[in-house]
Amino acid sequence: MSITTGDFRQRVTIHTLAEKKQKHEPIVSITAYDYATARLADEAGVDFILVGDSLAQVVLGYDSTLPVTMDEMLHHTRAVRRAVRHAFLVVDMPFGSYHTGTRQALENAVRCVKEGGAEAVKIEGGVSRVPLIRRIIEAEIPVIGHIGLTPQSVHRMGGYKVQGKTPDAIEELLRDAVALDQAGVSAIVLEGIPREVGTRITAEVATPTIGIGAGPDCNGQILVFHDLAGLTFNPPAKFVRRYCNAGELITEALHGYCDDVRSRAFPADAESYHLPREARRVPADGDADPVVRQK
Ligand code: KIV
Repeated sequence: MSITTGDFRQRVTIHTLAEKKQKHEPIVSITAYDYATARLADEAGVDFILVGDSLAQVVLGYDSTLPVTMDEMLHHTRAVRRAVRHAFLVVDMPFGSYHTGTRQALENAVRCVKEGGAEAVKIEGGVSRVPLIRRIIEAEIPVIGHIGLTPQSVHRMGGYKVQGKTPDAIEELLRDAVALDQAGVSAIVLEGIPREVGTRITAEVATPTIGIGAGPDCNGQILVFHDLAGLTFNPPAKFVRRYCNAGELITEALHGYCDDVRSRAFPADAESYHLPREARRVPADGDADPVVRQK
């Protein structure tokens, strides 16, 4: 007799990501910040789930990623961890959690694994981050790089602007990508760069590239869950494809709920609990349970 668990998918690991690049199989990734959305993404077959620091904007309502803290990232990572059974789970190291030195970076990376249950950490930046990335990898923690439009550098970039548009900027991005590759990162997120530059970096590094606004030739793609589902309030960036408009659906449902409560159409009798038949009788002397009498 064979036992079927219905759970036949293998867990995705750093080796799966590398194999996918070798076999030219696209890597599917998405962000998630809570149990419900992480579970939906995992069950849909996404390869890797990132608890992104975009949490700050799409869930916590900040206007940049800068304010989100390590503790907030860990709180959400634990919720996602409880949902994810197959996908590779990565957490973003937030702004300020690795910027003051290698020791701080290492301590916070360890927290991501130990307290959050993450399998890898993501760090923004290129050549300048290599020493601390090497140290984290030496501590047995896989690292995902992130170059191009790096939202934690918004003030240095002077806004959220497409990067890598001049020959010098392209050369710098290539140097960053090669340095991260040589440092041993398990993948590199390429954000907000011209398609041609995404193609070139993808060809030059051995590690998989994951694009977000970096064109179709990256080894994989990532989107922010709330962008994909239509749960954001500003016009989406050019690279976003909305696969549904959950915001509109939820708004419609909420209007229906408000109308039904106000018109007393909700709850219906079928949505109410009832006493057993014998307890429903109101005694003649008027001494019944007040809850029964009110009915
Ligand atoms: O925080 C995030 O959502 C990210 C992705 C855009 C890659 O870093």
